[in-house]
Amino acid sequence: MTFCEYRPGLEGVPVTQSSISFVDGKNGILEYRGINIEELARLSTFVETAYLLIWGALPTADELEEFQHEIQSHRRLKYRIRDMMKCFPESGHPMDALQACAAALGLFYSRRALDDPTYIRAAVVRLMAKIPTMVAAFQLMRKGNDPVQPRDDLSYAANFLYMLNEREPDPLAAQIFDICLTLHAEHTINASTFSSMVTASTLTDPYGVVASAVGTLAGPLHGGANEEVIMMLEEIGTVENVEPYLDNCLEKKSKIMGFGHRVYKVKDPRATILQSLAEQLFEKFGRDEYYDIAVAMEKAVAERLGHKGIYPNVDFYSGLVYRKLGIPTDLFTPVFAIARTSGWLAHWKEQLNENRIFRPTQIYTGNHAQSYIPIEKRQSSQDESCWS
Ligand code: ACO
Repeated sequence: MTFCEYRPGLEGVPVTQSSISFVDGKNGILEYRGINIEELARLSTFVETAYLLIWGALPTADELEEFQHEIQSHRRLKYRIRDMMKCFPESGHPMDALQACAAALGLFYSRRALDDPTYIRAAVVRLMAKIPTMVAAFQLMRKGNDPVQPRDDLSYAANFLYMLNEREPDPLAAQIFDICLTLHAEHTINASTFSSMVTASTLTDPYGVVASAVGTLAGPLHGGANEEVIMMLEEIGTVENVEPYLDNCLEKKSKIMGFGHRVYKVKDPRATILQSLAEQLFEKFGRDEYYDIAVAMEKAVAERLGHKGIYPNVDFYSGLVYRKLGIPTDLFTPVFAIARTSGWLAHWKEQLNENRIFRPTQIYTGNHAQSYIPIEKRQSSQDESCWS
């Protein structure tokens, strides 16, 4: 087979066959294993949804209890991981800390028995259990505090908020955070998932797979956009400034954070749910000063860019929810990573089932048959400004 057309960003190029999730970008539909995201957000829990994604079917009550119990009993971090984190600079980005810690797990659990179901299960459980603890521990350690030990009696979502804020969360806050995790758990072949699949295809260990995906999620065009949205709302400051801010962005042709998507050409269904979660939180805990700006922004962007299919994506309203839950802005993307670990692991497992190493090709644009020039005869090709 020859496939010679070059598509920047691999737009529209299938890179795998998958039964994990499905997106209909024209109609704003997202399904995990065939179940609509709205239904999962309403009826499921994050751990149950993760089980569905990773093992392919909803668990029975016993299966769910066992999975939950396994995760609860693996939440603690080895003291050496905590010691390693103490050496990280407090000013470092939490995504970099998380990437380093996820990779470091591979030092402790280095066996690569990828054909052993027990090994696979243990890796899934360890990663799902320890990643939230790592995120919360870094947050406390960079403030000079000792990390809070996880609590086995709390749900996945409640335990994370407890470790982060050092107090048990309000039940509504825990429930809403759990839904946020479900919404972010999986989303077909986005950049970080593709990165996890490429890494998985080399048959490396699952900790390296997740670490590479964390590094990819960190970028502002992907998971990092949720942080940038809050910075943008801060910069806009008032509803009156929305129009001039947009004018300026459009004039400079700069991207408006939290808008646009490679696949969705309508409002992302997750953004709709997140907006309603934000409103539920505001009703109980008070309105966020940026919410009116966000709503005005959505309206103004739809008027100007709706014809191009530019509408809010998942990152637009998530930050407003996280702020109300007491999550600092630079932890928004690590929180995304906590949820998406389940999707990455589902794709890791699927990749192993029918693995072939990824090795695409290129269209070479360089020269041929060049002569080697002796050093004394070379002229610099560097732009001098790069060294000044
Ligand atoms: N603001 C303004 N214009 C936009 C935006 C935006 N946010 N997104 C796309 N467009 C415009 C582009 O300028 C382009 O217009 P043109 O055809 O007139 O040149 C057209 O829409 C297509 O845009 P591309 O950048 O080619 O779309 P692509 O599919 O490559 O990018 C992406 C998708 C990266 C998400 C883009 O929409 C973007 O940068 N958005 C802002 C960052 C963001 O919110 N990222 C989070 C995405 S969700 C996630 O990863 C979890």
